[in-house]
Amino acid sequence: MQTVLVLNGPNLARLGTREPDVYGTATLEDLRQACDATAAELGLAVDFRQTDEESELIAWVHEAADRRVPIVLNPAAFTHYSYALRDALAMRTAPLVEVHISNPAAREAFRHNSVVAAVADGTIAGFGFASYVLALRAVAGLLAGDG
Ligand code: DQA
Repeated sequence: MQTVLVLNGPNLARLGTREPDVYGTATLEDLRQACDATAAELGLAVDFRQTDEESELIAWVHEAADRRVPIVLNPAAFTHYSYALRDALAMRTAPLVEVHISNPAAREAFRHNSVVAAVADGTIAGFGFASYVLALRAVAGLLAGDG
């Protein structure tokens, strides 16, 4: 079965209590379960991870490139400034979809730029946890050659 890495950046382990007006009250565990359910529907397996560490996230991106594994990535705040993450993603060997729970374009100016977007197949933002569901569907389409 094809595995998809679902990678989550800093502060996303705090979902549920973190700015609930922006991110809702469901937890990272709820998000993992939503991803598992969608993956099962699509005949995919999800390897779901979160880290607050830029170096750990980059190591996972390298691992995905070596194993030719697709990525659904919420880079969180790294989205807006991590050229190191962007450069790691540029080495990808499989589909990459950037996701956001909120809609960064409708928030503070510093969130309007993504340094990651240009090396992704596409970005899905603003639909809450459904952004991940849509991203997994997009990955399935890309793997099937519909992309
Ligand atoms: C986020 C949006 C980012 O601007 C923010 O730094 C996050 C979460 C989102 O999912 O909406 O941590 O990536």
